[in-house]
Amino acid sequence: MKNSKFLNNIICSDALELLSQIENDSIDVVLTDPPYFLDKLDNNWDYDEVSNQNNQQVVTSLPAGMKFDREQGRKFYTWYLKISEEIFRVLKPGGFFFSFSSPRLYHRMASAIDDAGFEIRDSFMWLYTQNQAKAMGVDHFINKMNADEKDKEEIKEKLSGWKTPQIKSCFEPIAMAQKPTSQTYLNNMLKYEVGLFNTNVRIGDDNMYPANVFTVESINELIDKTFLLPKPTKKEKGEYNDHKTVKPLAICEYLIKLSVFSKNAVVLDPFVGSGTTAMAAKKLGKNYIGIDVNEKYVKISEKRLREIDEKPDLFITVMDIEKREKRSFQEQLQIA
Ligand SMILES: C[S@@+](CC[C@H](N)C(=O)[O-])C[C@H]1O[C@@H](n2cnc3c(N)ncnc32)[C@H](O)[C@@H]1O
Repeated sequence: MKNSKFLNNIICSDALELLSQIENDSIDVVLTDPPYFLDKLDNNWDYDEVSNQNNQQVVTSLPAGMKFDREQGRKFYTWYLKISEEIFRVLKPGGFFFSFSSPRLYHRMASAIDDAGFEIRDSFMWLYTQNQAKAMGVDHFINKMNADEKDKEEIKEKLSGWKTPQIKSCFEPIAMAQKPTSQTYLNNMLKYEVGLFNTNVRIGDDNMYPANVFTVESINELIDKTFLLPKPTKKEKGEYNDHKTVKPLAICEYLIKLSVFSKNAVVLDPFVGSGTTAMAAKKLGKNYIGIDVNEKYVKISEKRLREIDEKPDLFITVMDIEKREKRSFQEQLQIA
């Protein structure tokens, strides 16, 4: 079997280095959540620095993740172009590449994927309501102005409610790219077992056709009915898991189920973090290859993957049309 020494392993390595060892046209789907290139979350991601980042009380400058630096987007593009070219090489013809990003730098990521040869077919939106606005008021800076107190108070009153330009961020975009098929969709599917989408997969509380919007929190009746995926359980993250950007298992499961057909499919995540993509693949009975440059995250991934074997019932499943029961996700969670 191709890539046998990497199959069903989490490998501690720089992604580019390991990708270069993966065989051409051998991977069914790549699902990944790369560093977003905001502040310290770049390709030199340091475990200790990132873990402690939110402990700093920043008053005199913008909070972590919000400093505007045009170079970040450029560096992201240059680096992700190389990554995407490797991903293009290792994917089977017609294989899908799903890549999470931030609303701020999505355009750089999508351009890199596009320039590597992929067809950008669509983008998904992961919708959520719970997030803190990162904007800062300007009172602190007004206090430091060389002006008398009365003028400062007037300026404060005039600018009351005006803050630095960051609004509450409530979605994450995910690129849906496809390596061009080598033949017609049907022939490509018959030859490589990738290229079409599985519309038996259901979303929402009412058996809906797959959509490019999803959420894992109950918002209101219409949104739940149309876009709701199972909420993450407390157990699925693992109490020991201190990764800052753990994705919900149900989202990874949804994207894999939409795109993976083959019994022996291989799901690749070159930035696997605490292992969520690999867990979803394993839960669905598919092979995985996970890569992360940081050994501590590799250990966390391995521990989470063991838990799938030990306590499979803790992890809820995205339904498809035949298996879907009439119970809502919330009811199923209680059962689990
Ligand atoms: C956004 S996180 C992924 C989180 C993951 N989706 C989860 O649910 O836990 C990105 C990961 O990329 C890893 N990383 C950063 N630079 C890397 C590189 N050059 N090669 C491989 N991994 C890298 C970081 O250590 C981090 O864990």
